[in-house]
Order: sequence, then C-alpha cells, then structure tokens
Amino acid sequence: MAHVVTDHCLDCKYTYCVDACPVDAFHQGPDQLFIHPDTCIDCGACISECPVGAIEVDLSLPDEKAHWVDKNKLAALQYPVITSSTEPLLGPRCVDKSA
Ligand code: F3S
Repeated sequence: MAHVVTDHCLDCKYTYCVDACPVDAFHQGPDQLFIHPDTCIDCGACISECPVGAIEVDLSLPDEKAHWVDKNKLAALQYPVITSSTEPLLGPRCVDKSA
C-alpha cells in the first residue's frame, strides 16, 4: 500500500504535501508531483495538507483512477525528489475537482 497523487494536482502543485512528508517521498514533475511507492510509509500526513484533495490511498482508488498507481511509480523514477514546499504553480488547469 502507498499513497498516490492524482489528477487534482495537475497544474496546481501547491506542494504543501511536501513539508508534511517525513520521508521525502515526493518527486516533482513539470506540472504535478508524484509519490514514490517504495519510499512512502503510508503515514497519511500529506492528505489533509492538499487543498484540492489530490492525494489518495492506492487501494481506495476507483477503477477510473487506478492507472495513477503505475503513473506515480514510473514518474517518481523519472523526476527528482522535492524536499520542501515552493510557490504553487496555479496554472490554467488547476481547478478543485474534489468537491
Ligand atoms: Fe499537489 Fe496537493 Fe501536493 S496540489 S503538490 S498534491 S498539496
């Protein structure tokens, strides 16, 4: 089990989740973050920090979002670790889809 970043993060990248993570499991892509499943310890500290509800537990994902498990794993290998928050991206595709 691990936590995953989903489409809600796209173009938002608030990065508040990064400061909550005790193990530096977040990796930074150009328009969103990803969680390395082998680094994540499933503490859940990041979930409540995200203003757009982008972080979910992999086993709780609905079928239409299941592909985010592999996407996080592959992207985490591709992009560097981010260890502290930065200015949010807040691009045009950043809308709160969690409501
Ligand atoms: Fe993304 Fe939410 Fe973190 S928008 S960068 S998962 S605080």
